[in-house]
Amino acid sequence: MELKGKTAVVTGVSKGIGLATVKFLLEKQANVAGWGRTAPKLDHPNFYFVPTDVSDFASVEKSLGQTKQQFVEGISVLINNAGLGFGGTLSDMPLDQWHQMFNTNVHGIFYCCKVIIPEMKKMGEGHIINISSIAGTNGIENMAGYCGTKHAVNGISHALFKEVRNDGIKVTCVNPGSVNTNFFDNFDSITTNEHMMRPEDIAASLINVLETHPNLLTSDLELRPLKPKG
Ligand SMILES: NC(=O)c1ccc[n+]([C@@H]2O[C@H](COP(=O)([O-])OP(=O)(O)OC[C@H]3O[C@@H](n4cnc5c(N)ncnc54)[C@H](OP(=O)(O)O)[C@@H]3O)[C@@H](O)[C@H]2O)c1
Repeated sequence: MELKGKTAVVTGVSKGIGLATVKFLLEKQANVAGWGRTAPKLDHPNFYFVPTDVSDFASVEKSLGQTKQQFVEGISVLINNAGLGFGGTLSDMPLDQWHQMFNTNVHGIFYCCKVIIPEMKKMGEGHIINISSIAGTNGIENMAGYCGTKHAVNGISHALFKEVRNDGIKVTCVNPGSVNTNFFDNFDSITTNEHMMRPEDIAASLINVLETHPNLLTSDLELRPLKPKG
């Protein structure tokens, strides 16, 4: 897809992978609606922040309305990036942390896809990228809840791409290993380091996937640091 002049919705844009992706999309001259709880420090004529809690369907519906008013030409790209994780053993995990992970990482993707897919179908074009994780293809000790959410994201993505491919809509599931962001603030046992991938590495890979030929679908993309221990 030629990104110039197209409208993209990116969720979770205050920092990390989401913010890096917004910046790369703006460099490609796309219009970007950032749906998030917290606004980024970013002032650009083609960027429009829409206060959104992706775990709340009413909030997501409202954001669609605001985005359509701002960018009338239709939404071509949805990057479901907003997400969070809590660590610890399953038996010690507080209920609210478990629910917050599923409400955001799984239900949030459902809500955003549910409102935006009809818009893409009207245009006969679209690309949805779901940011999953290698926790979506592996079991990781002390991350059972997070792994559960990301396995769900992989399963949803694989089913969805078959549902919408004949409408001209691509669905890509991206599975990154460790990225140096604030994601690990909730994990006492993990500290970020320079051997992790950089958020801009993930953003650049997303742009590559978006810019492929209309008949090429990258259904899954696994990204890893080459030397995670340096
Ligand atoms: N970092 C990694 O190693 C890694 C690896 C694989 C996959 N991922 C995935 O990559 C995605 C981005 O994570 P990151 O590493 O960039 O982490 P991050 O720096 O913590 O950023 C997460 C973003 O999601 C937003 N968010 C969280 N809950 C939200 C909600 N209910 N509604 C709207 N926005 C919400 C946050 O907003 P606030 O500022 O308001 O909190 C923030 O902008 C996540 O889905 C994560 O699971 C990360």
